[in-house]
Amino acid sequence: MVQRTAIVTGSARGIGKAIALRLVQDGYSVCINDIPSSQDAIDATVNELRTAVRQPDQPAEIALSRVIGVAADVTSSTQVERLVKETVEKLGPLTLMVANAGIAQVKPLLAVTEEDIDSVLSVNVKGVFNCYTQAARQMIAQGNPTEVAGVGVYKILGAASIVSHKPFPTLGMYSASKWAVRGLTQAMAMEMAPNKITVNAYAPGIVDTAMWEQIDDGLGALEGRGKGESLKLYSDRFIALGRTSRPEDVAGLVGFLSGPDSDYVTGQTMLVDGGVIFT
Ligand SMILES: NC(=O)c1ccc[n+]([C@@H]2O[C@H](COP(=O)([O-])OP(=O)(O)OC[C@H]3O[C@@H](n4cnc5c(N)ncnc54)[C@H](O)[C@@H]3O)[C@@H](O)[C@H]2O)c1
Repeated sequence: MVQRTAIVTGSARGIGKAIALRLVQDGYSVCINDIPSSQDAIDATVNELRTAVRQPDQPAEIALSRVIGVAADVTSSTQVERLVKETVEKLGPLTLMVANAGIAQVKPLLAVTEEDIDSVLSVNVKGVFNCYTQAARQMIAQGNPTEVAGVGVYKILGAASIVSHKPFPTLGMYSASKWAVRGLTQAMAMEMAPNKITVNAYAPGIVDTAMWEQIDDGLGALEGRGKGESLKLYSDRFIALGRTSRPEDVAGLVGFLSGPDSDYVTGQTMLVDGGVIFT
């Protein structure tokens, strides 16, 4: 019998929340994770997902038992270790880790401080590293994925970005952090292949979430535009498909990367950006 369990970090809102919803709809049991200060948002998301997956003819306990919430800061390896342990205890063997949590930073490089570097690399690179490695340790300890969970391979996914491929001015340190995710993903894929673990990353473009609200504010302040104007300008100017991305666009790609059709895909950072062209 196939029994799939996922952790999605930074999933109390935004892209992570859309991914978590997609995964429960696809049959995964899911752990919602976010930072401890977002406990209320974690609880709200858990309740929303339980309601979304509840079948009218099923007892409520089935939906309850498929979605849990665990607060943990991904910058701490001990907190991520606890996150993995608690998930496995409550939901069963871990078959998918989605290292989605990330933070943005809008600053010209000459204004970036050492504290700025530490903060963005700590979440976007060390946080992803912690999730990749703690998940891999758990998966290796579990043993053969087909015997353990009825799946061909274990899967690890990370949040990269369009700027993993082409940096964007004023998002320099953020771009460097996402470029690092692409490298880490390729290296991890090579090292984990003998353990039947694939490692890939999804690379969104301009997605309308709280993160882009922050980027919109930052760009507006630097370039003299009002609220919402930068998001509209950048979407109109750079996105070939002519609209800002929605979190569900990203969840669609993750649906493929977390399903059996991508079992032979590893080491890739896949764009899901509506055809962004930064000239
Ligand atoms: N929004 C976009 O346009 C866009 C584009 C490319 C890539 N991405 C990436 O996609 C991912 C999700 O982005 P989003 O737009 O949903 O952002 P968001 O800010 O809306 O959500 C990110 C979530 O991560 C959580 N988080 C932050 N630091 C954390 C930590 N240390 N531990 C645990 N959780 C933490 C936040 O509390 C938040 O709930 C990020 O990695 C981001 O860099 C977003």
